[in-house]
Amino acid sequence: MKLIKIFLFLTLIFFILLQFKFPSYSAEENACMACHGDVKKPAKSIHAALEMGCSACHKSVEGKSHPEQKGSIILTKNIPGLCYGCHDESKFRGTSGHTLLGMCTGCHNPHRSDSNKLLKSDQPGVCYDCHDKAKFTKKYVHKIIDVGGCSSCHAPHISNHPSLLINSEHELCISCHAAKLKLSHVIALPGRKRHPISGVKDPSTLKMILVPDPKNPKKQVEVPDPNVPGKEMSCASCHDPHSSDFTGLLTQARICTKCHKY
Ligand code: HEC
Ligand code: HEC
Ligand code: HEC
Ligand code: HEC
Ligand code: HEC
Ligand code: HEC
Ligand code: HEC
Ligand code: HEC
Ligand code: HEC
Repeated sequence: MKLIKIFLFLTLIFFILLQFKFPSYSAEENACMACHGDVKKPAKSIHAALEMGCSACHKSVEGKSHPEQKGSIILTKNIPGLCYGCHDESKFRGTSGHTLLGMCTGCHNPHRSDSNKLLKSDQPGVCYDCHDKAKFTKKYVHKIIDVGGCSSCHAPHISNHPSLLINSEHELCISCHAAKLKLSHVIALPGRKRHPISGVKDPSTLKMILVPDPKNPKKQVEVPDPNVPGKEMSCASCHDPHSSDFTGLLTQARICTKCHKY
């Protein structure tokens, strides 16, 4: 009797100790960790999904042995469907956005990363993987990019404003440059109304066509093409929001000649 009790006691201890020996991996997962230990190495950000086991996202293909055969382990679902299994899909749908293309892993590592939020690398570098770096690194760079990265102005996933902006362009610029609403911006002419920076069409985006002059039908006059409405004037009519080879982030030399013929 006594021996049996001791045996049962020791068996219990054995199983308790077993739990402590493998505190976080399930038996199935442990098999993966033997060869893929690097997936769980400490890092600045680690995907909480790893706690749910490798099988939350990977599955073995029946009849194929891993790693000997190619395609022996596949994702449980394609991206982005895989990600939407745990992340609310509605947060990734809008009128403009990257994620419409389903490119979650274009910017995020699925397991771990040495940048915040599982990003493949820090901003703005991660953006230059796909966007031409030269556009953003001309002679004069908008200083806010070094401070707050691209997300000072752009949403990473979706937006209801064009160009993935976090606000309408005008509101966005004046949120940091309120002084530019003063009369003196662009030109200071005593007694005149201020130079338009919004609310009228940008003449440089209008397509001009020739029509007969109503006063003198033998002559022709230039008018804007009604089929090509042109863009509204905005800060970006004169300034490049990213970088420029001209002072003041202006889009070209002798900026006034972009719209005024002298
Ligand atoms: C015996 C060592 C070993 C074990 C155990 C192992 N793997 Fe692998 N795994 C490898 C090797 C080696 C490769 C690289 C094969 C290659 O490059 O084709 C690989 C590749 C992979 C890949 C990429 C394959 C691809 O087709 O892109 C995934 C995903 C993967 N393993 C997941 C797992 C998971 C999940 C487990 C546990 C169920 C696991 N592995 C267990 C050795 C192992
Ligand atoms: C949140 C989902 C998710 C979880 C959980 C997950 N993975 Fe992955 N894993 C992925 C995705 C997505 C890829 C990339 C596939 C691609 O880009 O084709 C990947 C790729 C891999 C690869 C091949 C590329 C590489 O990074 O080496 C290996 C090996 C791998 N996973 C192993 C594991 C192991 C082992 C675990 C468990 C510890 C695990 N994964 C857990 C989503 C996950
Ligand atoms: C099995 C569930 C699961 C799946 C599948 C999954 N995630 Fe997650 N993910 C989580 C949980 C849980 C968190 C932590 C809580 C949160 O932020 O929502 C998280 C957090 C994140 C974070 C924020 C990390 C941080 O440091 O704040 C990112 C980025 C992320 N996931 C991207 C992805 C991507 C990309 C995919 C698809 C490849 C994916 N997730 C698939 C469960 C999952
Ligand atoms: C163009 C790059 C890019 C793509 C593509 C992308 N993300 Fe992100 N994601 C980011 C950035 C940048 C952040 C960090 C935002 C911040 O710091 O506030 C982020 C943050 C997150 C977070 C953390 C949530 C939060 O607000 O902190 C989750 C979860 C996430 N992404 C999931 C996804 C999923 C799922 C997909 C695919 C459907 C995806 N991402 C596609 C760049 C991207
Ligand atoms: C994996 C490649 C990839 C990465 C990385 C990437 N982008 Fe993009 N981005 C694209 C593609 C492709 C488009 C065009 C999408 C479209 O037209 O639907 C795009 C479009 C955009 C647009 C214009 C959207 C519009 O509606 O006009 C902005 C703004 C943008 N990206 C900003 C960023 C920022 C900021 C980052 C870094 C956080 C980044 N991108 C990282 C591929 C990428
Ligand atoms: C100060 C705000 C601001 C910052 C910071 C910013 N952008 Fe933009 N971005 C804009 C505005 C405004 C537009 C729309 C321009 C237009 O309509 O002419 C735009 C347009 C874009 C576009 C689409 C049009 C194009 O020029 O190709 C991409 C891609 C883009 N930005 C990427 C980035 C990346 C990458 C970064 C970081 C290196 C970044 N942006 C930082 C304001 C900003
Ligand atoms: C989040 C804040 C922020 C937003 C939003 C922002 N800026 Fe800036 N901007 C800055 C900072 C910071 C500087 C550097 C100021 C300095 O050097 O004193 C700057 C400088 C500038 C300069 C002067 C560059 C020079 O070399 O003199 C211009 C022009 C400019 N911004 C235009 C814009 C336009 C156009 C927008 C909207 C597309 C915008 N900014 C949105 C913060 C911002
Ligand atoms: C019609 C063209 C035009 C428009 C539209 C315009 N600007 Fe400017 N801006 C200029 C010129 C010209 C300068 C002087 C550049 C220089 O000093 O080299 C300037 C200079 C600046 C500067 C830097 C110098 C300073 O005075 O601090 C900032 C910041 C700026 N603008 C922001 C804005 C913002 C924000 C908007 C939209 C609300 C805007 N601008 C709209 C033409 C314009
Ligand atoms: C992106 C186009 C654009 C640029 C660049 C631009 N302007 Fe203008 N400008 C306009 C528009 C539009 C009006 C309003 C015309 C109207 O009311 O008929 C205007 C009006 C004016 C007026 C008032 C004219 C009048 O008849 O009342 C002056 C003066 C002027 N601009 C000077 C300049 C100067 C100086 C520069 C360079 C620093 C400049 N503009 C750059 C578009 C521009």
